[in-house]
Amino acid sequence: MSMKYEEQIAKIKNIVNQPVSKFKPDELKGIVERYEKNHAKSKEAFERARKILPGGVEHNLAFNYPFPLTSKRVYDCYMETVDDVVLTDFLMCGGPIILGHNYKPHTDKILDVIREVGPCHGITQEYEYLAAEELQKHFPSCEVIRWLQTGTETDMLAMRVARIFTNRKWIIKIGGSYHGWSDQLVYDMHIPGTGMLESHGMPKDIYKWIDACPPNDIEEMRRMFKEKRKVAAVIIEPMGGESGAMPVRPEFNKELEELCHENGALLISDEVVCAFRLHMGGGQAYFGYTPDLSVFGKIVGHGYPSAAALGGRADVMATVAAGVGGGAKRAYCGGTLAANPLTCAAAYWAMKFVEETNATEKAGKAASRLTEGMNEIFAKYSLPWFSYNYNATVHFHTSCVFGLDLKNPKHIGQITERKHFMEQMGAALIDEELISVAGSRFYTCMQHSDEIVDKTLEKMDNICQKIEKN
Ligand SMILES: Cc1ncc(COP(=O)(O)O)c(C=O)c1O
Repeated sequence: MSMKYEEQIAKIKNIVNQPVSKFKPDELKGIVERYEKNHAKSKEAFERARKILPGGVEHNLAFNYPFPLTSKRVYDCYMETVDDVVLTDFLMCGGPIILGHNYKPHTDKILDVIREVGPCHGITQEYEYLAAEELQKHFPSCEVIRWLQTGTETDMLAMRVARIFTNRKWIIKIGGSYHGWSDQLVYDMHIPGTGMLESHGMPKDIYKWIDACPPNDIEEMRRMFKEKRKVAAVIIEPMGGESGAMPVRPEFNKELEELCHENGALLISDEVVCAFRLHMGGGQAYFGYTPDLSVFGKIVGHGYPSAAALGGRADVMATVAAGVGGGAKRAYCGGTLAANPLTCAAAYWAMKFVEETNATEKAGKAASRLTEGMNEIFAKYSLPWFSYNYNATVHFHTSCVFGLDLKNPKHIGQITERKHFMEQMGAALIDEELISVAGSRFYTCMQHSDEIVDKTLEKMDNICQKIEKN
């Protein structure tokens, strides 16, 4: 980790306690005008898409300001839009790409599977256990593994398994964290303390046995354990909520493991972003704790569809044994296309290639170079902004919407303005032909060379020149 936790928190507080940064008005006008001019085909595509797709976009991470872009193709660390603009890609499909897009040796293996094996069988195929064995090699806490299709359903199943195994009901998440969009987990997302703000369409009763603990607050968690008593599980994003945007205190995960186990509860580690990106052994290896259950998503199949898995202790995972029939209590789950050979081969070969190429380490080096460079630039322009990285995930905080303290009356009402600045930041990055995650995060891959990073830093310098001085 590139910056000490205490320093991260102090810097977040510093940003939220002062007015939101602003682009110089003429610079912002130029950014928006160029965006319109350079992406006219994307605009046309958006107008067409919005007639048939709700809102015209189906990806929460898509850029919507001034309007969303339409991609034509991705390769290495680039995305080419329908406007023939080539963006240096730090979105990396929202995290799963670490070898680079369409990494040829990987693509070739998948093509072989399509031609020679066939993409779906409906019964067990060899790649299913080959991929599980490979995953277990990096995650020894996963004695038994079940393949699923999305991070969302895997988090859902993890809760179900924990409740059956412990015969308890309470699930505690960490405020602001994201564990997919299932009924029970659209709760206290993005900004700690928001509770049911985004839980439209779900009856309140669904949240009867869910609660959120403020990030990093082990004393509050202890208090919650006493109050709820029958806690089935605590679920965490290892780097902190929204994958490290709200950084974790490094000892917190281990403290949670101990607290859970002293009280007969399980610890669920949501490794959807951390596996292979943070460390080959995910958050649990990086921070040194042992969860009972681990959730894997998109990254496990390197971006190929239908890739997710739940792994964990053999006794706990026994509740997800498949098959038709009654008897012992089991956690019902399914998925016709889950564990298909295409996905499992994608997972198997991705893990092999990531290990063989040292992709995690290489992507991490690019990320550290970006982080250091950005902090120098932010200091040069006397901006309160700052950056840190957890290996191959770089956060750069400018308006820090998630850092708002919703108990502070001065902070309420700033959500929209701070979010909008991040959208403007996203547009300013596109103006420099860079695509980020939500204008505040860069995911790196092993194709992001020193040269590409240095060019990116020059572009970040250009952006900083467009910010008004306080
Ligand atoms: C930590 C975490 N958990 C779960 C999910 C949900 O995964 P999926 O989008 O595959 O449903 C995500 C998605 O970004 C995530 O970041």
